[in-house]
Amino acid sequence: MYRLREITKVFGRETSALDGVTLHVAPGEHVAVIGPSGAGKTTLFRLLNLALRPTSGSLRFEGADVATLSDAALRQARTRIGTIYQQQNLVGRLRVVHNVLAGHLGRWSTAAALASLVRPREVETASAALARVGIGEKLYARTDELSGGQQQRVAIARVLVQDPDVVLADEPVSSVDPSLAVTLITLLRDLSDESRKTLLVNLHSVDLALSFFPRIVGVRAGRVAFDLPPDRVTVDLLEALYAGDRDDEAQLERLRDGYDPFGRACRPLTGFRP
Ligand SMILES: Nc1ncnc2c1ncn2[C@@H]1O[C@H](COP(=O)(O)OP(=O)(O)OP(=O)(O)O)[C@@H](O)[C@H]1O
Ligand SMILES: [Mg+2]
Repeated sequence: MYRLREITKVFGRETSALDGVTLHVAPGEHVAVIGPSGAGKTTLFRLLNLALRPTSGSLRFEGADVATLSDAALRQARTRIGTIYQQQNLVGRLRVVHNVLAGHLGRWSTAAALASLVRPREVETASAALARVGIGEKLYARTDELSGGQQQRVAIARVLVQDPDVVLADEPVSSVDPSLAVTLITLLRDLSDESRKTLLVNLHSVDLALSFFPRIVGVRAGRVAFDLPPDRVTVDLLEALYAGDRDDEAQLERLRDGYDPFGRACRPLTGFRP
């Protein structure tokens, strides 16, 4: 689905948000991305949803080198990618049904999209998607009158309507309580599984990442610090990810292999909180 090789992203003259990221993601894979604030996670997601271009390195999406795509091909590729943001990018004053049907925007002509604002097309589609995320009764509610968690469900329903190959969720649950967070992550995982979508989620909760994802990518200072199954992610590795010396690559290397700086086996993970 994705092949990133030595990707860098520099903002302005000197802010290096990504500094040599190499990452392959297979179709249908579920991946959690974790790492400290400012590590480059959102920048990585904006590259993956083709909103940003890398400064250097190569990015292949579904086999095609993104740098060589025409504008039309790029637009087409973007319709295959659904993004859920922490700020859900919903239009508050519109009714829920319109926000959900905006999932079609990449496919519909502007005229059809505008017409849908007056008279919702495919209301049944929207209604079914809302039922899937557990708020079927909110079809005609004003979006800004929903709770944060309900709005997050609307954002997921919108992606259901879009029906992309890839779902990218950038901190989709950081504004909801822990139990709703589990519900929403489970929902995202199950919906993606059902339709064999690739799912990448950027999470601040390490617990959620380790509990729900078979592959954990730790990002630190614009680089992939580790890329491991959850049972190989140790407390030492997480401490190094969140608090470690930014330049201590050698230490991370040892931790990735499961040993602390003194050659002892790393402590297993029990209730770690960054
Ligand atoms: N549009 C931009 N212009 C300039 N600098 C940017 C821009 N976007 C991100 N950055 C910088 O790139 C670095 C990585 O930012 P990014 O948003 O990717 O981090 P993050 O890992 O998502 O952090 P958080 O966990 O706080 O969301 C930061 O130093 C940030 O200030
Ligand atoms: Mg971010």
